[in-house]
Amino acid sequence: MKAFDLVTLLAVAPAAVAGWTWSEAKGKSITFTSVPGFFVQDDAATDPSGFDYATVNFGLINRTYPTDKRFDAAGKKTQWQRFEAYVKSLNSRCHKGPNVQYKVLFMGRHGEGWHNAAESFYGTPAWNCYWAEREGNGTAKWADALLTPAGEREAYKANAYFKDRYATQKMPYFESYYASPLSRCTITANLTFADIDVPADRPFLPTVKEGFREGMTVHTCNRRSSKTYISSMFPTYRFEPAFTETDHLWRANESETDAAFAVRAKAVLDDVFASDPKTWLSITAHSGAITRLLAALNHRPFRLATGQIIPVLVKAEVVDLQPTPAFEAHEPYSTCDAPPLASVAGQGCVCPTMTMMTSTATTVVPTATATTTTSEGPEPTESEPAECVEE
Ligand SMILES: *[C@@H]1O[C@H](CO)[C@@H](O)[C@H](O)[C@H]1NC(C)=O
Ligand SMILES: *[C@@H]1O[C@H](CO)[C@@H](O)[C@H](O)[C@H]1NC(C)=O
Ligand SMILES: *[C@@H]1O[C@H](CO)[C@@H](O)[C@H](O)[C@H]1NC(C)=O
Ligand SMILES: *[C@@H]1O[C@H](CO)[C@@H](O)[C@H](O)[C@H]1NC(C)=O
Repeated sequence: MKAFDLVTLLAVAPAAVAGWTWSEAKGKSITFTSVPGFFVQDDAATDPSGFDYATVNFGLINRTYPTDKRFDAAGKKTQWQRFEAYVKSLNSRCHKGPNVQYKVLFMGRHGEGWHNAAESFYGTPAWNCYWAEREGNGTAKWADALLTPAGEREAYKANAYFKDRYATQKMPYFESYYASPLSRCTITANLTFADIDVPADRPFLPTVKEGFREGMTVHTCNRRSSKTYISSMFPTYRFEPAFTETDHLWRANESETDAAFAVRAKAVLDDVFASDPKTWLSITAHSGAITRLLAALNHRPFRLATGQIIPVLVKAEVVDLQPTPAFEAHEPYSTCDAPPLASVAGQGCVCPTMTMMTSTATTVVPTATATTTTSEGPEPTESEPAECVEE
């Protein structure tokens, strides 16, 4: 009866568990390792381009685990059930000390948004140097972009695939959900999970966290809407404690540096691991954000197309405090003042003259990508338009 009461209570007020903190991590640092050998995505032989989670059981490798013998003596359990039992054993007291935690993170990129469609429409250089700084073009609006019909279909595809995996493969339900505050992610999370019949003790009540948002370029698609707006669209969504009513992070005149973005991705993971005792987590975020999260998890680069999802088994370990080296938080960003004359793939765009100058003069503005890509994973190809922050 007592256990039942607790479950009921949690279903009504899941915030009741919000008090937990990883006490061993207090005043220390956390290092993350993506544990190889469980998902095909961390195998160097798996090509990320064209990869589709929905054709390969999210990439879960068909294999045995040391726990199979006890957990599945009759050989009747599914791969997901056996993997779940194995992860549970990794987290059990007898296999690790209090300084170690394992979690399974499913990171999903939002479905196609109007900003993605516009980047394809104008070409990446013209998008970066002019159009992305506008709110829209009169036909399409991409400031805090909504999903295109194709993007909605990508979310419904994920919805159907999760339902199928739960029903036929006994895949475990997520225990916690997180989302970027940008509309394309709050909407994708909702279309993916909201109508799934989840267990009462694992409700779909995502927490919105600034740390999961896209790189804060001057592009209006990366400026978020107010907390009131997000709440009015999704009344059940929760917010991290420090979440402000309006967007204090985005700037119209400067971009977040790549160094700052990498630090932010590590920090949001630190925050999640230090405050959430759950194991099975869903995160709905962005191309650039997931690229940085994977790097922080020491996973190989694995670029996601819109609507794609990547799972990672993560080992987190408390270590002595490691100070963060100093970094520049913002950098200026050059743009054209009027629609560019041309968009030159891989080079930049040709800005028209300023009003005062002669009509033949032109200025080439390099794409934002050129300066920030060097330390990143594979460059997006022209046929795969990148998320609106370029890398
Ligand atoms: C595992 O086996 C099933 C069929 O038994 C197959 O559908 C699935 O694609 C396999 N998974 C991988 C990652 O190879
Ligand atoms: C605005 O951009 C969209 C792509 O998002 C495109 O389909 C549409 O044709 C554009 N409208 C104009 C007036 O150029
Ligand atoms: C959230 O998802 C549900 C289920 O698919 C849908 O009925 C509802 O319209 C969605 N809400 C928003 C604001 O997209
Ligand atoms: C951008 O705006 C902020 C605040 O409005 C200001 O502090 C900063 O100096 C500006 N940066 C540039 C490069 O103009």
